[in-house]
Amino acid sequence: MRDLDLFEAIARRRRAVRAFLPQCVDRALIERLVAAATTTPSSCNTQPWTLHITSGMALDRLRVALIDAVSSGVPPEYEVEAAGRYEGQFRERQIDAAVRLFETQGVDRNDKAARAASMLHNFAFFGAPHAAFLFMPPDGGLREAADCSKFAQTFMLALAAAGLGSCPQASLSGYPSIIRAALRLDNEPGKLLLGMSFGYPDDEDPTALARPPRATTQDVVCFHSD
Ligand SMILES: Cc1cc2nc3c(=O)[nH]c(=O)nc-3n(C[C@H](O)[C@H](O)[C@H](O)COP(=O)(O)O)c2cc1C
Repeated sequence: MRDLDLFEAIARRRRAVRAFLPQCVDRALIERLVAAATTTPSSCNTQPWTLHITSGMALDRLRVALIDAVSSGVPPEYEVEAAGRYEGQFRERQIDAAVRLFETQGVDRNDKAARAASMLHNFAFFGAPHAAFLFMPPDGGLREAADCSKFAQTFMLALAAAGLGSCPQASLSGYPSIIRAALRLDNEPGKLLLGMSFGYPDDEDPTALARPPRATTQDVVCFHSD
């Protein structure tokens, strides 16, 4: 069970990191973690994912362009259909996760300007030195989106195993044309599914205390044996 103990520790260590140290991750380590993520299973082994990783000047250029666009009210436009509104317990969990984050940031939930400022951290990549953009095939559907999401999770667990942190960000996928322009992705035919900041986590930052709880095992599993 030693491997399982280790796996559980890594899975529990992973969290959405919203404050990073400026220190860059070695290119060889990033490549090793991407290689680990390529073990992800996919329907008929299609492996429908493409990852663009940006750092340095390209990331600085993108950060400026995104903050400029979002602060001046440019609306998001998604290449992959955005989810609808959450209802019932899903809405309650969404609010709970947001409130927990706001509490660590000293943001009053009813203060619209403070909420907008909190949201803007997404577009500064929470100070991360690297951002990854995950693309699915141009004609891909739900199946490919699910496969790419699994790839993202394997990558995030590999990052956690290496002592690194990540934040998956649907917010970034609302600005594909800005991302394409800043990263000069003229030859990327795919659809942008997800953005992700990653790097060394700043565990001293108060946002590290925002740990949204999970439903119990009994709430998520039903056993059937007769
Ligand atoms: C597909 C996806 C999109 C997400 N988008 C964002 C985002 O845009 N900004 C953000 O701060 N967190 C984002 N998150 C992080 C979730 O809020 C977070 O995973 C959830 O609240 C559970 O917290 P934990 O990851 O720390 O356990 C996203 C997570 C996923 C899986």
